[in-house]
Amino acid sequence: MAKKKYWQQFPIYQIYPRSFCDSNGDGIGDLQGIISKLDYIRDLGVKMIWLNPVYKSPLDDMGYDVADYKSIHPDYGSMEDMDLLIQEARKRDIRIIMDLVVNHTSDEHEWFIKSKDKNSPYHDYYYWRKGKNNNTEPPNNWTSMFTGPAWEYVPEVGEWYLHLYSKKQPDLDWHNPKVLEEVESIITFWLDKGVYGFRCDVINQIYKESLEDSKTHAMSGRGMEFYLMKEGNHKILKAIYEDIFSKREDAVMIGETFNVDKENGLRFLNEHEFDMFFIFDHMYIDKSYNPFWPRRFKAKKFMDIIYQWQLEMPWMANYLENHDQRRSVTRFGDGIHNEEVAKLLGLLNLTLRGTPFVYQGEEIGMTDLPYYEMREQCKDVAVLYILDIAKRLHFPNRFALKFVNQFNRDHARTPMQWDESKNGGFSSAETTWLPVNPNYQTLNAKAQEKEGSVLDFYRKLIAYRNGSKTLQEGSFKPLKFKGNLFGFIRECEGERLLSILNFGKKNVKMPAEYLKGETIISNYPDGGDTLRPYEARLIKLS
Ligand code: NOJ
Repeated sequence: MAKKKYWQQFPIYQIYPRSFCDSNGDGIGDLQGIISKLDYIRDLGVKMIWLNPVYKSPLDDMGYDVADYKSIHPDYGSMEDMDLLIQEARKRDIRIIMDLVVNHTSDEHEWFIKSKDKNSPYHDYYYWRKGKNNNTEPPNNWTSMFTGPAWEYVPEVGEWYLHLYSKKQPDLDWHNPKVLEEVESIITFWLDKGVYGFRCDVINQIYKESLEDSKTHAMSGRGMEFYLMKEGNHKILKAIYEDIFSKREDAVMIGETFNVDKENGLRFLNEHEFDMFFIFDHMYIDKSYNPFWPRRFKAKKFMDIIYQWQLEMPWMANYLENHDQRRSVTRFGDGIHNEEVAKLLGLLNLTLRGTPFVYQGEEIGMTDLPYYEMREQCKDVAVLYILDIAKRLHFPNRFALKFVNQFNRDHARTPMQWDESKNGGFSSAETTWLPVNPNYQTLNAKAQEKEGSVLDFYRKLIAYRNGSKTLQEGSFKPLKFKGNLFGFIRECEGERLLSILNFGKKNVKMPAEYLKGETIISNYPDGGDTLRPYEARLIKLS
């Protein structure tokens, strides 16, 4: 049998470098800061780190607007620091995964700057088009993911360019074979440096099949029918596999696949386009696009979505939070049992089939920021766009802030809380780039260096998982219970492990047939025949 790959065996830790650890006191996390925390990461038991973008960038979308793919933003350090990080991580058996952002570049990338010259070969790296009505209106009616039109007019060029995200993120034109060549050179550059692979940003939207007007009326993302998971997209991914990854066995490709469906998901896996991919369905569970009508989280719906994907895909990239989502404890809990909820979610994520991703701070149960009252504090470009529109429409500020609060990405981007000292031990600066959550004095990694903490729970569970063939390779079978009780069995070579979760605040009877097993880990100190609020257990069935 083929040897299991690293990514099939171990969890991945996601680091948002700007907010992880600041080594030089400028209020911004950096690569040396990450290096200084590698022992902490090793002790957590994870074996791979996915780094959000650290490339040169004007940071309009916090690095997802890359100005040079082969250099490091000075805020984070130098290429020497990056090389050292790769080396120091390897010494600890940890591999580095980079973020590959190639649906778009920054408008400050030299390709884009040169592309403004119509005679330059770079002009065809992007979607430059004449507008409608004598060039006075955008070429089509598509909207940006961050709301507003997806086109920007540049008078000096006399044309419009396409941007599915902010106007500082022009889309690359993947019809041009030169773009593939450039991206393959970026991939090879980093693989040669010793990185283990890539998380590929919005990679299922890169190929725009046509630039026709869209017939859909979505609030944002109009035009998707012409660019989501098109045949040309699959072709490009296969070419990357053929050209590079088929020859580099020991590497990983992870797709961030917006609104992916199961049919395309299977193709991604079966046709070698990715080793795994992220779904979004379970992240929409509590999002409402009606500012007056919030949507409540329902555990049943959430778990149903997770189960369906588990059942239909051979492998999943499992996650419950990341830099684009609010903190899972705040979102999916009751605001009272935060510790129990953090552990329950950890148990869920780490015992599903697939590769678990743990986002920095999730392992200590970090929470959302208290409600934003001032627009000035907000850094998330997507939210700033919406607040601008709301202001122009004279929409009451109070409602606008409440509306954006449900998806403000700053919640997950506040600095990591290391200890109870100034700025939670993240930085010695007077101010940090985003505020530290005021709960750092009690909620921090140092305070959790003790038995029974969320961190302790994560360490123990990851250590168990790293040695468990059943959790790494076992089959997945969901069980049917009533109300907020959920359970699933992982089975391999006769061993059966049950994850049982009381995803609610009422006590629930433990089903009698599962009372006899051996509890491997639980978020309450003693067992018994009742599952208390948010109680979760991993049980070896006899
Ligand atoms: C997904 C990234 O995770 C997000 O942070 C970014 O804004 C968009 N892609 C655009 O690159």
